[in-house]
Amino acid sequence: MKAAILEFSPSNNTNRVGELLKTKLEQNNITVQLVNITGNKDYFLTNNKQDFLQKTINKHDILFIGSPVYAHHLQYHVKDLIKNLPRPVNGWSKIAVPFVTYGGINSGIALDEAGKLLQKSGRIVVAGIKVSSSHHMTKAFMKEEYNKDQLEDKLLFTIGELVKRISLADLASLKDNSKYLKYQDLMIYLKADLIFREKIWHKKMYPKIAINDNQCIKCGKCVKVCPVCHLEQNKDKSIIRNMNSECIHCFNCIFECSQKAITPVGNLERAEKFMKSMIKKGKEVPDTCLYPKL
Ligand SMILES: Cc1cc2nc3c(=O)[nH]c(=O)nc-3n(C[C@H](O)[C@H](O)[C@H](O)COP(=O)(O)O)c2cc1C
Ligand code: SF4
Ligand code: SF4
Repeated sequence: MKAAILEFSPSNNTNRVGELLKTKLEQNNITVQLVNITGNKDYFLTNNKQDFLQKTINKHDILFIGSPVYAHHLQYHVKDLIKNLPRPVNGWSKIAVPFVTYGGINSGIALDEAGKLLQKSGRIVVAGIKVSSSHHMTKAFMKEEYNKDQLEDKLLFTIGELVKRISLADLASLKDNSKYLKYQDLMIYLKADLIFREKIWHKKMYPKIAINDNQCIKCGKCVKVCPVCHLEQNKDKSIIRNMNSECIHCFNCIFECSQKAITPVGNLERAEKFMKSMIKKGKEVPDTCLYPKL
């Protein structure tokens, strides 16, 4: 059996899950191609993403799609990625499994969105996983990174169960289980649709980044860690922004810049207050989970 794992992972949590999944699949004699589009210029700066995918992804029997949860939704680049998937013919499998990682606040409706989009692309969604992970960006405005200590055992067990289901099954006989990805109650759907509108949050709510040219030593490190190729260096190595690929507020560049030339701006107090109010609501139960449930 051959598997393809396609993922986007600005702060590496989703990639970590993708790598663990790859290892487990390989231990079960399944060949794996893992493609991480994070920071890939050939993907982000092309207008023909389907062509990129067609050329990059090998023939496979099962497709895994990994994404972070942003503002209760499937990160919008992963929505685009799924919309650009070639039809499931000529070596592209009909069988799909989405997985999402979230920062312990709320996994929102991301897994359900992934399932629906994969179904719309002609695929059979046999399972899905949500994984509670660290919330890296909170380091920019809170004393501690939220939800950073996660139990490895639970994640390994969950991935192991998924791989067991797949490797023991006759793939052709697997049925669509996307209805099980709709695990949230109506209130979360309403909040996701009416309040947490991801692109509006990027425009108006998340703290922005400011670049101080005088402090910049032109090392280029921030460019390397920008997951969407928003940051570039011009001829004299000064940092410029590519407005064809907008900032998604992961804050990798802030954490990477040793000179503190990149800083968050905006109402950081409001950001901290908001995050604290979300944290107060308590953690989602179950935190990490395979659907359909065991
Ligand atoms: C802009 C932004 C929005 C986020 N929104 C949510 C959210 O709504 N709920 C949540 O629990 N975590 C949220 N997170 C945290 C991420 O989902 C979490 O850290 C995820 O594991 C990141 O995956 P990655 O490391 O693969 O990028 C958000 C992070 C960022 C940067
Ligand atoms: S990491 Fe900081 S110092 Fe280096 S190029 Fe980027 S902004 Fe300049
Ligand atoms: S510019 Fe910085 S905060 Fe924005 S997406 Fe790139 S690395 Fe993340």
